[in-house]
Amino acid sequence: MPEGNHSWINDTKQAAKAAPTASFHNPPQKVANSLNHTQHARPSAFRRSQALMKILVTGGAGFIGSHTVERLLREGAGDVCILDSFNDYYNPEIKRANIRSFKDQVAIHEGDLTDKAFIDALFEKEKPDAVIHLAGRAGVRPSIEQPELYIDVNIKGTFNLLEAARRTGTKHFVFASSSSVYGVNKKVPFCETDPILQTISPYAMTKMAGEQMCSNYSHLYGIKTVCLRFFTVYGPRQRPDLAISKFTRRIQDGQPIDKYGAGHTARDYTFVTDIVDGILGALNYSDGPICDIFNLGGSQTVTLNDMIATIEKAVGKEAIINAMPEQPGDVPLTSADVEKATRILNFRPTTHTDEGIPRFVEWFNQMRAEGIAC
Ligand SMILES: NC(=O)c1ccc[n+]([C@@H]2O[C@H](COP(=O)([O-])OP(=O)(O)OC[C@H]3O[C@@H](n4cnc5c(N)ncnc54)[C@H](O)[C@@H]3O)[C@@H](O)[C@H]2O)c1
Repeated sequence: MPEGNHSWINDTKQAAKAAPTASFHNPPQKVANSLNHTQHARPSAFRRSQALMKILVTGGAGFIGSHTVERLLREGAGDVCILDSFNDYYNPEIKRANIRSFKDQVAIHEGDLTDKAFIDALFEKEKPDAVIHLAGRAGVRPSIEQPELYIDVNIKGTFNLLEAARRTGTKHFVFASSSSVYGVNKKVPFCETDPILQTISPYAMTKMAGEQMCSNYSHLYGIKTVCLRFFTVYGPRQRPDLAISKFTRRIQDGQPIDKYGAGHTARDYTFVTDIVDGILGALNYSDGPICDIFNLGGSQTVTLNDMIATIEKAVGKEAIINAMPEQPGDVPLTSADVEKATRILNFRPTTHTDEGIPRFVEWFNQMRAEGIAC
């Protein structure tokens, strides 16, 4: 466990009741998860029993949220509840399928972040010790078409949560930010200390505002907030609007895919279970600044050409390429500097796209076999 990563459970009202001897340094063991994969359990991010901690995961039916809930339950991290609106930004059947494995083990609060009365009642009932806030409107392009919706959900919704957290005594708040806050930053890799002066989409602006609100609530009310800037997360259950999904769908269906430029642009892709490692690290991080920010990226960059080839291999079909001119404003490379997350959160992404893409395609095929459009 790196220096600086101490369990915040010591500070909570449950600390006195927590079993003092339990260790979360589990030896690797075989576990079956809901995707029917047998895999080696990752070493736990927790150092001691947090079995009495109440954790609210917002967006718990979504892509990253459902993986996070499964992992928290597998590790016995606490009493987990979720909040999700199951909205139709993409097929809600996918979200219902995402929660199948845990819907009987967690309290599910179906409602909207923007409904202040609902949020207040939820916090009064659950009084969460920690919140992992993943709910929100994602996607850059739709935010340009519906900026007000993004402001309502991502800014006002986050405000509603922080306000309720302040009132009911939540100690720890993990916030899903995004690499998009780096905006026009030309320096790579992107580093947390880079100045954030010019976001270039409503989505990015709302994430920046979320980080700033976290800073306010830490400073004014002593809530520990940890903002995580995710870099292109992919894997089973990923949102259908992401490029990997679109490519997979079209290659499977024998339809052409648009390839912009020569295919040399490169992106930092992060497999979802690696992201969940970082989220758990953030949940367990109690010292350092009361508000802190971390990049969570895959620390590997993959070119568009390589990504298409990997998907072709996993699908077992060649792509029909529709060559398009380079898109104006397309940055040649996104890359996360994850030194800080590695040092403080023990974040060490391990899943390469050669392994991650076939796992995504396997899930994609399973959904299609069940008649769930994804
Ligand atoms: N996936 C990525 O590559 C990526 C990258 C950067 C940041 N993020 C952020 O991570 C978080 C999770 O992303 P994801 O990819 O899992 O998205 P997702 O859309 O699969 O999950 C978000 C969940 O939030 C719920 N939700 C949306 N609006 C809501 C509202 N008003 N009230 C209650 N619930 C609501 C949705 O129903 C969904 O289940 C988001 O905040 C997103 O902005 C994701």
